[in-house]
Amino acid sequence: MNGPHFAGAIERAGADALELNLFTLPSDLHATAADIENRYFYTIRQVLREVKMPVSIKISYYFSNLGAMLLRLSETGVAGLVLFNRYYSPDFDIDRLSLSNGATLSESGDYRRSMRWIAIMRDKIRIDLAASTGIHDAPALIKLLLAGANVVQVVSAIYRYGPEHISAILRQLTRWMEKHNFADVESFRGLLQQSQNQSPEDYERVQFIRDFRGFTGD
Ligand SMILES: Cc1cc2nc3c(=O)[nH]c(=O)nc-3n(C[C@H](O)[C@H](O)[C@H](O)COP(=O)(O)O)c2cc1C
Repeated sequence: MNGPHFAGAIERAGADALELNLFTLPSDLHATAADIENRYFYTIRQVLREVKMPVSIKISYYFSNLGAMLLRLSETGVAGLVLFNRYYSPDFDIDRLSLSNGATLSESGDYRRSMRWIAIMRDKIRIDLAASTGIHDAPALIKLLLAGANVVQVVSAIYRYGPEHISAILRQLTRWMEKHNFADVESFRGLLQQSQNQSPEDYERVQFIRDFRGFTGD
């Protein structure tokens, strides 16, 4: 059975929806960006042909034209994009001079890439956006909702703190909403997306230079 047929089998087994994890490390020196991108569109077409249930795709940020690629992916017929997956990365053992296992779990600051891209793309993409990577606590959850995420995914924090951590995060979310007089999540979802900000260019800032003033004595 090949990939798309698995999707059909999963639907027939009773699944309500399917998340496709699409990624190959773009290390093929002979592939063009278009070759790699076309593999994504080909797979999505094949899977959507097989199933009627909603399909979301979880992807990486390894695209030279990330914004345009996210837009094109959102127009394929998938129901949602998950930004972004986090992949296994090997490490080096400097005593054994060999490859070793990299960190399995994300760190709590790792949510920022997803936050920026959801904030930038929210008003340009019509389908649901799920935030993934580095969401370990209520502040990160709230930030991703402020960016415009429809849902967030939590994996490493559950491994680290146990499933009851989700209840703690939700209690903190409720307290934060009461403090800010938000009756429901819709009242603040997307409030800090790029298009609603006075300085949209700040969402695209990539240089640290302003932060060096303190170090240089300016
Ligand atoms: C132990 C472990 C196993 C994972 N296995 C998969 C997997 O099989 N397929 C997949 O798409 N993502 C897998 N992931 C990635 C997670 O689904 C998630 O995208 C990633 O961990 C980022 O979220 P987090 O920061 O909340 O952990 C795995 C993550 C961890 C920590």
